[in-house]
Amino acid sequence: MSDTVDLVVLGGGSGGYAAALRAAELGMTVVMVEKDKVGGTCLHRGCIPTKALLHSAETVDVIKEAGQFGVHGTFEKVDMAGVNAYKDKVVEGLFKGLTGLVKSRKIEVVQGTGRLVSPTAVEVDGRRIEARHVLLATGSVPRSIPGLEVDGERVITSDHALRYEHVPGSVVILGAGAIGCEFASVWRSFGAEVTIVEALPHLVPLEEESSSKLLERAFRKRGIKQELGARFERVEHTDAGVRVHLEGGKTVEADVLLVAIGRGPVSQDLGYEQVGVEMERGFVKVDAYCQTSVPTISAVGDLIPTLQLAHVGFAEGILVAERLAGLNVTPVDYDGVPRVTYSHPEVASVGLTTKVAQERGYDVVEAVYDLAGNGKARILGTAGAVKVIASKDGPVLGVHMVGERVGELIAEAQLITNWEALPGEVAQLIHPHPTMSEAVGEAHLALAGKPLHSHS
Ligand code: NAI
Repeated sequence: MSDTVDLVVLGGGSGGYAAALRAAELGMTVVMVEKDKVGGTCLHRGCIPTKALLHSAETVDVIKEAGQFGVHGTFEKVDMAGVNAYKDKVVEGLFKGLTGLVKSRKIEVVQGTGRLVSPTAVEVDGRRIEARHVLLATGSVPRSIPGLEVDGERVITSDHALRYEHVPGSVVILGAGAIGCEFASVWRSFGAEVTIVEALPHLVPLEEESSSKLLERAFRKRGIKQELGARFERVEHTDAGVRVHLEGGKTVEADVLLVAIGRGPVSQDLGYEQVGVEMERGFVKVDAYCQTSVPTISAVGDLIPTLQLAHVGFAEGILVAERLAGLNVTPVDYDGVPRVTYSHPEVASVGLTTKVAQERGYDVVEAVYDLAGNGKARILGTAGAVKVIASKDGPVLGVHMVGERVGELIAEAQLITNWEALPGEVAQLIHPHPTMSEAVGEAHLALAGKPLHSHS
């Protein structure tokens, strides 16, 4: 059977389904091909289930630390069956909602593994779907390194870690990006001995260095061991689990090794090269409008070499749908994308780091507001800081935060940096007292030369 639709989307994750939803909203006929479940990595193996685990972990911390708030209770145990049931219920509820939404927009979902067979066609299980436009959105999977075999038992990735039925006694985590730091946080809260191994000199190495250092300090206080600037050499299986060898001769033993060294694109054997789509290190190359080298084919999400974040996938998907519908579109401003690592404490940032701003030739000025001066942070018992960087006599370029709940503050910082606000303009805004959001206001007051609850 042959159909001709306006858009066929290969992959129903954040990028793919956002494009499908927006395209349908704009009157296009859409078919979405998905081999697993609509929602993709974010909903089923990423953002949502990990944040549910982090919430269970936070609940453990609340119980264990209740004494400092004058409340006494006893922590009994982490029941992983219960944790997983809660996590799965959250995912299932969102999945049902998303499925309903896709159906209500009259998007046809074709279950199966699709393959690009021409600039305007995808084939699934013998069915050829012809379309005016094709969107590739096949996402990513956890990466490993040559010689490091993931067996799903002793050497695992986040996919396995999300389905763990017990809390490991000890774990080595390879890689201190978002995945490494979030799992370190969860497992430490659940009671495991955790060691993070990171090749670069800092945790969350792409963040502002001061944020990395604050996280390192907080993790040290939580008893999370860190091997920084340490390169992985090999792993050896032992009776009890694994012995991880680092360059220089040091070894670390644990029950399991979690490999969190990044995610690679899913682009092999899908017909992309054969149809003439230009690739680079497995990623699909696109222009600023997410169009590939083949004009009828676009690509979004983890498959293209931009930030691998669900909210970036949403934005790219919407951009493609609107472009194909003939609307006036603006390329995604990748500098303006907020980034949050949801560990305990959280790390959040938007805009440029000092290093990147200087590399781009800005004369950078900065102010750091220590959360110790913030009433709500004291009430919650959290430490951290808000750092604001600006161009001298110019707009705010970046905001970098560490502390509990700072992920919820980054949306304001996003408005500030994306609207190129001046520190003095933000200093005019009255923040509600007592909230963590005041820390954002206070950092701008300091940068505008009129600090209130901080030393100048
Ligand atoms: P990542 O690329 O963010 O971090 C991997 C880390 O592993 C890097 O710091 C790298 O230096 C280190 N590394 C690489 N090879 C190594 C080696 N041989 N020995 C020691 N260290 C080594 O990747 P991650 O954390 O796996 O996440 C994958 C993607 O998913 C990222 O783009 C991430 O931003 C995204 N993600 C975002 C989340 C969030 O926004 N909260 C949560 C989870 C993932």
